[in-house]
Amino acid sequence: MTDMKYAHIVGWGSFLPDRIVTNDDIALSVDTSHEWIYTRTGISERRIAAEQETTATMAFEAAARALAVADIHPSQIELIIVATSTPEYIFPSTACRVQDYLGARRAGAFDLSAACSGFVYALSMASQAIATGSVRNAVVIGTETMSRIVDWQDRATCILFGDGAGAVVLKGSSIPGGMMASSLRSDGSGGDLLSLPAVYHNPVPTLGPEYLYTNGDKNKTISMAGRQVFRFATSVISDLIEDVLEKADLTIDDVSLIVPHQANSRIIESSAKKLGVSSDLFYMNLERTGNTSAASIPIALCDAVAEGRLEPDDNVVFVGFGGGLTWAGSVVKWAVTPPEISMVDREWKRARYMFTRGRSRLRKLSRRWGASLAGSPVPEARLKDADSKKQ
Ligand code: ACO
Repeated sequence: MTDMKYAHIVGWGSFLPDRIVTNDDIALSVDTSHEWIYTRTGISERRIAAEQETTATMAFEAAARALAVADIHPSQIELIIVATSTPEYIFPSTACRVQDYLGARRAGAFDLSAACSGFVYALSMASQAIATGSVRNAVVIGTETMSRIVDWQDRATCILFGDGAGAVVLKGSSIPGGMMASSLRSDGSGGDLLSLPAVYHNPVPTLGPEYLYTNGDKNKTISMAGRQVFRFATSVISDLIEDVLEKADLTIDDVSLIVPHQANSRIIESSAKKLGVSSDLFYMNLERTGNTSAASIPIALCDAVAEGRLEPDDNVVFVGFGGGLTWAGSVVKWAVTPPEISMVDREWKRARYMFTRGRSRLRKLSRRWGASLAGSPVPEARLKDADSKKQ
């Protein structure tokens, strides 16, 4: 056991693609309207990744920003967990791609699949690794390119989702606070309410991000029983929040902010009513982002911090729900004020990642040269590199 067992959030960062797609834009291709979408969901617009942007490149951007806020060098990171339902590859994991982009040479890295609850699940895993002394610093990321698994002809689902990534840095400390409690839940019997087929359903072996460009193929896009998902979400959120608060020995009156999964404003309003609190206690940014699945909570957290909604010693609750079915909550005692990061510092930190990228490329080349000199077969380089992508 370690005395650095309290896992504090010391850095946060998010990344949203530049391209904005409004409800009116969507109404040009399917039979819907801004009015219908906004009143049923609270969503006005969402961001859609450009072709060169992937789940891993967006995750890298968010993580690099979080590390800059934490003022932690990537080599100090010992664990990277990426929560995602839209990996470019089954393996290598998105987390390993991010490890390489960051140059986090001492980090273990893995992906975690718990749909929209994934970020809260990952936060719980990482904080427990810190509590046991197994790692001291961890990066937890939620990242999704939902636009690549949505059937853009299906008006019931394509209106809901958006792309983006958010990340936090967790650091072990002997000062009480940070992650106070978490509750994880699942109910596999509801798996068919929200699903996305994978390998077994994909008889044509394709490689690269194009694997996820799936328009029109029902075997490769999200299917969702919207009303039942709605009912499931509104039935679990308030109980889960009460449960996790009880574990942390707190009540709802001790909570300064709840950052929920950003699926639908009506789900959030109904949960606030059940808890007997104002919906203002719940932070919402889904009007501008849509539902970014595992990325939604860390992106919302970053926006809440930027708007000054969190002060040191505030108790903040995260609550996620989604496919699996899964749902999860955690309580965090917030400990830090956002640091000032100078332009020079920011640019220097970014430049560092160019060196990292070069070092990684050299390592790949030397592996190939070494193999060919030794007469070993050199595997075809089939992973699409991020080198050509906007970084
Ligand atoms: N525009 C216009 N009409 C539409 C649209 C649309 N985009 N989508 C559906 N309709 C129509 C339907 O065809 C139906 O028409 P009908 O009555 O003539 O048959 C009518 O609107 C009602 O359809 P419902 O699906 O029952 O509409 P509902 O009020 O349930 O709203 C919605 C649909 C917004 C999807 C809602 O069910 C919902 O938000 N559910 C939760 C979904 C969710 O949050 N999923 C993600 C959570 S987990 C995760 O993030 C992965």
